Amino acid sequence: MTGEAIQNLIVQLKKEIEKAKGQIKTLSDLEAFRVKYAGRKGQISLLFKQLGGLSPDQRSSAGKDINDLKKNVQEFLENHPLVKSGSEKNKNIFDPTLPGDAFRLGSLHPVTIILRQIKDIFQKMGFSVVEGPEVESEYYNFEALNIPKGHPARDMQDTLFVDDSIVMRTHTSPVQIRTMEKQKPPVRIISPGKCYRRDTPDASHSPVFHQVEGLCVDEGITFADLKGIILNFAKQMFGSNMKIRFRPSFFPFVEPGAEYDFTCLICGGKGCRVCKNTGWVEISGAGMVNPEVYGYVGYDPEKYTGFAFGMGVERIAMLLYEVHDIRLFYENDVRFLKQF
Ligand code: DAH
Repeated sequence: MTGEAIQNLIVQLKKEIEKAKGQIKTLSDLEAFRVKYAGRKGQISLLFKQLGGLSPDQRSSAGKDINDLKKNVQEFLENHPLVKSGSEKNKNIFDPTLPGDAFRLGSLHPVTIILRQIKDIFQKMGFSVVEGPEVESEYYNFEALNIPKGHPARDMQDTLFVDDSIVMRTHTSPVQIRTMEKQKPPVRIISPGKCYRRDTPDASHSPVFHQVEGLCVDEGITFADLKGIILNFAKQMFGSNMKIRFRPSFFPFVEPGAEYDFTCLICGGKGCRVCKNTGWVEISGAGMVNPEVYGYVGYDPEKYTGFAFGMGVERIAMLLYEVHDIRLFYENDVRFLKQF
């Protein structure tokens, strides 16, 4: 075929297409038009096939013309009012048979789950839940808990100071004092909440963490009551095989004081990496309220005795869920959070 011949064909096809455009009335007319001219075996494709026998110059000029025609037809098809109004119409049709959009449910944070369980268990044992401020005076955080000035617990290393006499509470124990100031015995409360310490985060330390404080004061309360309450809690929380143990320890606001441990759930008490082969996991401290403390809140130490305990919430969550790094609780990685 000569260059002239193909140019004639192109002009002819152009004319034909322009005429055909004017005759489109329905969507199926439009589709027939598309197939006839722009389809894989349509007229424009056929023209491209004729390019083979031409000289390079003729080929490039004719190729450009056919390409322009092709573009013209494509734009015509895309912008045709029948297509536009069709898709717009489709958008507004509500099809009740289509599957719905799934909303993904969030889940409670593991610390929240554990806190709720702890509260639930203690409420059933007759404890009420009270809360105290996270920004606390030195008086409540230390002084009234019999932690005098110069005590290592006040060390700048551990405590975040807001100013000279205001701190971010380092434990939930100040709520003991706030409660006893307001209320005469019998007192039976737990107090959950956040605590703050100047710690560098690692697998077992976080500068923010949660504790639950417990306090029970009345006539005739003994260390046996403390052990009974903690043992019952451990069994409710972890199952009836749970054992507890108390080790003598010192906290200025209790006398005698202890640290208490629960059976390591990971190895069932046989000894493993997590419990450093002891079979026990430390939960927190506890003891009998020091009579010195009663002096600060106006309780008669001759009449009343009581016990107090702390509880590390993340420790319990780590034990229950076998989480080995406390930082996971604070990174908000959904892949971690959605497992609970
Ligand atoms: N407040 C202590 C701490 O954060 C824990 C604690 C120890 C609380 C003994 C108590 C207790 O109520 O009696 O390390």
